[in-house]
Amino acid sequence: MKIFSGSSNGPLAEKIAEGLRLTLSPLEIHIFPDGEKRVRVVDEVVDENCIVVQSTPPNVNENYIELFFIVDALKRSGAKSVTAVIPYLGYQRQDHVFREGEAVSIEVMVKTLQASGADKIITFDLHSIKIPQFFSIPIAHLSALPLFAEKIRAISEGGALSGASPILISPDMGGIRRIKLLSELLGDMPYASIEKDRNLKTGAIRIKNIHVAPNIQLKGRFAFIVDDMIASGGTIDKAVNFLKKKGIAKIWIFATHAVFAENAKIILKKIKAEKIYVTNSVFVPKEKQFPKLQILSIARIIIENL
Ligand code: R5P
Repeated sequence: MKIFSGSSNGPLAEKIAEGLRLTLSPLEIHIFPDGEKRVRVVDEVVDENCIVVQSTPPNVNENYIELFFIVDALKRSGAKSVTAVIPYLGYQRQDHVFREGEAVSIEVMVKTLQASGADKIITFDLHSIKIPQFFSIPIAHLSALPLFAEKIRAISEGGALSGASPILISPDMGGIRRIKLLSELLGDMPYASIEKDRNLKTGAIRIKNIHVAPNIQLKGRFAFIVDDMIASGGTIDKAVNFLKKKGIAKIWIFATHAVFAENAKIILKKIKAEKIYVTNSVFVPKEKQFPKLQILSIARIIIENL
């Protein structure tokens, strides 16, 4: 078995390689003055099962193109199989036609990845459980929820709640399946889901309502907001402000993918939350980190599924 890393998440690739007792095999990735990339496999890979680790956050297009080229180069060089570990699968939110005339971007990416020669995909916490249906090759859809459950248990048992009741919150209705699964992992911890509305033209977010069982009071509770990703930070920001107005005492935030686009850091630094937990599905450089941010590793989960 040989393991390779694209340029988007070298530290995670290193961790996976270390866990497999392998070292990363070298790749030559050259960028021409016009921006085109040339990828070259250096080692002998004939009849080898190969793993490529490449997440596809911003710059999503660059990261995808590089992944296609690495997979193609490995297959042309005789690799027996190529497993693409794509912890964060970019374009997943464009999984259907929202408004007439749009492309289904994720389907285009999936088709290109398969045409490049990928044999298996490993990915995490997809926005919708329908996305695996776009693939005709095996896909392991893994989740960071067990890591989050562990942390939430530790926070609850560590006395931080000082007797207050906890509640899990999905910041949008699309996350309801995720929050129910997490509730089960946490012995049926109560949950609620915010109903949000996004203007498809401007991207502006508006909170409409919160769906919560009638016997559950929000006031004075400690909330764990759980989402698949933080991109602009807008969803989390709006959810936190809304929950504070509802009388929630303290908030912890969990999101698998730290996409952190645009001014996310500026928004997140100011958020009234105790801590923001993300995973290393996306590499977060030092300049995008801030004191309340904690990064959990998904390397072990990937290794268990290789
Ligand atoms: C939305 O449906 C997702 O589950 C996330 O809540 C959303 O994509 C986060 O994006 P942003 O941080 O830009 O609001």
